[in-house]
Amino acid sequence: MNKNNRIIQILGCLLLILLISSCKHKEEEYHSITDKIEAKSKNYHGVSLSSEAHFGDIKMMEITEGEHTFLIPERKSQIKSFKCTECHTTPLKKLKGKDIKKAHWDITIEHANVNTMNCVTCHNSENMDELKSLTGSKIDFNKSYNLCSQCHTTQFEDWKGGAHGKKIGGWAPPRASMTCVNCHNPHKPHFESKWPARFNTQKVKERK
Ligand code: HEC
Ligand code: HEC
Ligand code: HEC
Ligand code: HEC
Repeated sequence: MNKNNRIIQILGCLLLILLISSCKHKEEEYHSITDKIEAKSKNYHGVSLSSEAHFGDIKMMEITEGEHTFLIPERKSQIKSFKCTECHTTPLKKLKGKDIKKAHWDITIEHANVNTMNCVTCHNSENMDELKSLTGSKIDFNKSYNLCSQCHTTQFEDWKGGAHGKKIGGWAPPRASMTCVNCHNPHKPHFESKWPARFNTQKVKERK
């Protein structure tokens, strides 16, 4: 017999044996669908799910608030005019002299009314590189949620628990959440109402 034919025959046999044995193997492994689910989920915990895959360029930092420890984005490197003390070395009163151009012309407060807050309700005029609480204690720019929490207790409690504000990477560990100022501009925190980006296209056609 031709030598090549022989080799092909042998290979064919081997392949058949391999196929049969692998099929048999699968059948024996799971007696029922519930067995299969149980077996497949055994080594699943934390294997491929991690929120870290979603961080991208965002630098994260760990915080502990009450019984909750989680990651939030660092802010100082994201604030354009930080460090504030590059200019704010002299007291505000002097800075605001007649000859000085208005520096923060693009910032106006559309938050609470003027009786409740002005710039120095949140910013520390003694040291602009810090925020301050209503009673005058320091708040780091990276932890500005402590500023908001003074007046928005409900949202703060919800946020700590993970109910208010988006989590990065969903429920995948380690827990990571956006911080208040990632979503709300502190100077103008209210979201405008708007139409959804996609709505009833059939109605649009009908209106034409
Ligand atoms: C390039 C210089 C510069 C930098 C950087 C800068 N400021 Fe100012 N800022 C000024 C000047 C000048 C004034 C006074 C003139 C004015 O009111 O705009 C001022 C005024 C202010 C006021 C008072 C505004 C008012 O109407 O009473 C606040 C609050 C303030 N700055 C906060 C900050 C904070 C917070 C930072 C950092 C995140 C910062 N500034 C960074 C130059 C600067
Ligand atoms: C409700 C509290 C609050 C009030 C009131 C407030 N700020 Fe701020 N401001 C913040 C917080 C918090 C940040 C940091 C936001 C972040 O992390 O991006 C900030 C950031 C800034 C910055 C840096 C912005 C940038 O992108 O460089 C400037 C400048 C500033 N504030 C000036 C002012 C001035 C001037 C006023 C008054 C007209 C004012 N702020 C009123 C809370 C406040
Ligand atoms: C000194 C108290 C105080 C602080 C500090 C404060 N807020 Fe407010 N905030 C208010 C008041 C008062 C209103 C207006 C009342 C209302 O409309 O519910 C308001 C309104 C808002 C709204 C709009 C609510 C709406 O109707 O859409 C948001 C969002 C908000 N604040 C977020 C923040 C964030 C984020 C911070 C921290 C950077 C912060 N606030 C700090 C008092 C405060
Ligand atoms: C991932 C984005 C996100 C984060 C983070 C976030 N918020 Fe909000 N917040 C929202 C959205 C969206 C709404 C709903 C706006 C609407 O209904 O018009 C909202 C609404 C609010 C309101 C208005 C009242 C209400 O419940 O509808 C307040 C006050 C508020 N947030 C404060 C905060 C504070 C304080 C923090 C931080 C402790 C925070 N938010 C973190 C997105 C966020």
